[in-house]
Amino acid sequence: MVEPIVIEGQRAWLKQYGAGSRALALGLLSFVARRFQLDALRPPPHRGGDAARETEARRLGELQAQGINVPSVIGSGHAALVLEDNGSSFNTCLRQADDAGRDRLVAAAMDAIAQAHQRGAYFGQPLPRNLTWDGEKVGFIDFEEDPLEVMDLAQAQARDWLMFGYGVAKYYEQRPQQLQAMMAAAMDTAQAPVREHAHALTGRLQRLARASMKMGRSARALAHAIIIVHGATTLGVLMVLAVCADFLADGQLDILELFT
Ligand SMILES: Nc1ncnc2c1ncn2[C@@H]1O[C@H](COP(=O)(O)OP(=O)(O)O)[C@@H](O)[C@H]1O
Ligand SMILES: [Mg+2]
Repeated sequence: MVEPIVIEGQRAWLKQYGAGSRALALGLLSFVARRFQLDALRPPPHRGGDAARETEARRLGELQAQGINVPSVIGSGHAALVLEDNGSSFNTCLRQADDAGRDRLVAAAMDAIAQAHQRGAYFGQPLPRNLTWDGEKVGFIDFEEDPLEVMDLAQAQARDWLMFGYGVAKYYEQRPQQLQAMMAAAMDTAQAPVREHAHALTGRLQRLARASMKMGRSARALAHAIIIVHGATTLGVLMVLAVCADFLADGQLDILELFT
């Protein structure tokens, strides 16, 4: 549970870590990800309580040391952290912006992600609701899971791009080419293994994407993200043939939506 609080006139956030949950669903997702070689989509352990607090505090420290705009930890207690305010919800900003404003916000976020990756950083869940905007800078929050527990750095960075693409795709349902162009430009700066992982991953998911186009809104957003990231990483890489037709059955899509 996360709630805004005020300390000496300053806005801050109290984050309390409940019990770990979703073990069964995460186990299933992990199985599917392994079975179909979707390594960058393997879910990291979802711990609760003090273990989650420790992971988040450690990750925030690492990211801050890498020069990333994350909130400072200003207090801590049993299964709880107090964090500096990092700005408004990026999601709310996206919702309120017009097309041009949205493009500026998304470009700024892509820049921030690309620069962070160049410094060796990774995020895990850079969805719009886990990003902040203070009017000038994009910031990042929510680090209680650590993808490096189950994958390497290039995979974690590829996962970041897929997550981000998934998160913003719903704002580009009318203008997917625009998002695709921005994504391609951003991924140009990524290192070759990251582009290759993103490409292989999205290649394997392509048919799922096509199938899900007929389905609900968030499935369509995921589908767009997959197509966009895939398009953005085409250069020089042969598409891995999708060997996972079974994976494309409707029911499995819910598993992917665990990431949201
Ligand atoms: N340091 C912060 N600065 C600004 N907003 C925050 C901060 N921490 C949390 N929030 C707000 O609270 C929400 C939930 O926090 P988050 O850390 O993402 O927890 P959860 O694990 O529940 O997703 C965020 O989407 C954001 O709107
Ligand atoms: Mg969150």
